[in-house]
Amino acid sequence: MKQWLKGILKSIPQVKRYHDHLKSLADQRNNRIEAQLNEIIDMYDNYVDETWSGVSRKQVCLLPYRNFDVYADGSVYTCCTAYLRNNYSIGDIYIDKLDDIWNSDRAKRLRYSVSKGNYEYCKRRCPNFENKESSFPRTDWDESCIKDHPKAIGLYIDCTCNLYCPSCRSSIIASSPAENRNITNILMNVIRPALKDCELLTVSPAGEFLASKPIMNLLKTLSREEFPNLKISVITNAQLFTDKRWTELPSGMIDTVSVSVDSTEKDTYETLRRGGKWETLQKNLAFIATLRRSGEIRVLQLNFVMQAANFRQIPAFIATAKQIGADRLCLQQINNMGTFSKEEFDHINIFAEQHPNHSEFQSILADVKGREQGIDIEWG
Ligand SMILES: C[S@@+](CC[C@H](N)C(=O)[O-])C[C@H]1O[C@@H](n2cnc3c(N)ncnc32)[C@H](O)[C@@H]1O
Ligand code: SF4
Repeated sequence: MKQWLKGILKSIPQVKRYHDHLKSLADQRNNRIEAQLNEIIDMYDNYVDETWSGVSRKQVCLLPYRNFDVYADGSVYTCCTAYLRNNYSIGDIYIDKLDDIWNSDRAKRLRYSVSKGNYEYCKRRCPNFENKESSFPRTDWDESCIKDHPKAIGLYIDCTCNLYCPSCRSSIIASSPAENRNITNILMNVIRPALKDCELLTVSPAGEFLASKPIMNLLKTLSREEFPNLKISVITNAQLFTDKRWTELPSGMIDTVSVSVDSTEKDTYETLRRGGKWETLQKNLAFIATLRRSGEIRVLQLNFVMQAANFRQIPAFIATAKQIGADRLCLQQINNMGTFSKEEFDHINIFAEQHPNHSEFQSILADVKGREQGIDIEWG
């Protein structure tokens, strides 16, 4: 026993030396990894800066000068929130007056940054940087103040919907009567007066406009006579879009109807558009197509969020869109909007290289892109 203890005590300095040796190897390795990571970050920054100054800095994005998107918590954004850094909103519709939000310091700073070309509040992957139509003249700080009201207003303010698609939400969302009163108050007293200068009103990219009492309350009060320059664009799951509901919408003002379909087969449709009925979609889509044929609406768009369950239906979807007389279709990438666990999303997300069907998906896309399809395709 004594011998054994002596042996252990004797080996302690050796163990300690070995431990120090290992630690120093680990430190060296960590330093090397850190240096390599810093090198990669520098390379990336240089690459971004070159791309940035070569392409983006010459453009002045128009969105901060035109757009006013109002979200459910009251936040107002000039652009898609996915492309703004740090959730950069320009104000709160429940607190500030519309004119004060439109010319708030935050709004002016954003305009100033795009007019000077440093885009400090924008994510660099925003597709609008390549928008060659952006030819707004360079301005200085004071001119970042805009006298007119916004030209485009997006109402994301009510998330109420009749469906609960798995890609979008986990259960039915419906505003309470008190919320409906608050939203109606904002729409009627704050947004409506601003529609005089507005050219495009979009409803409702965060919910279903036909299921939203506040949005329908607003739409029912609009008329071509009172708002001669205003066009309305609606995005819808079409389940409630019947000929009867059509008569509730302001005559001659609906410019674009954008229908989210996601499928060419009943089973897939009823899984991906949870709560929706395939037969109802077919009936209402046929009605909307008659509106397009008669010229009552100018644009009919169909939407399709590409994912594991439906990607093989993309060619059939293009054929259907042409057959019903749609003007364009939008093929969108699936995002995880917080409704899927990581494992669930890995299973659904065919955009990931490691997905088992990724290469099959890529060859379908290559085939679609490689051939003239006879219809406008927008990639979202
Ligand atoms: C949230 S919906 C609101 C409008 C309407 N209720 C509809 O379904 O068209 C707006 C669009 O987002 C799409 N969408 C839903 N979940 C998505 C996701 N996880 N990734 C990308 N787009 C999604 C829908 O298919 C639809 O085209
Ligand atoms: S229909 Fe539109 S808003 Fe409603 S749950 Fe589906 S994607 Fe979301």
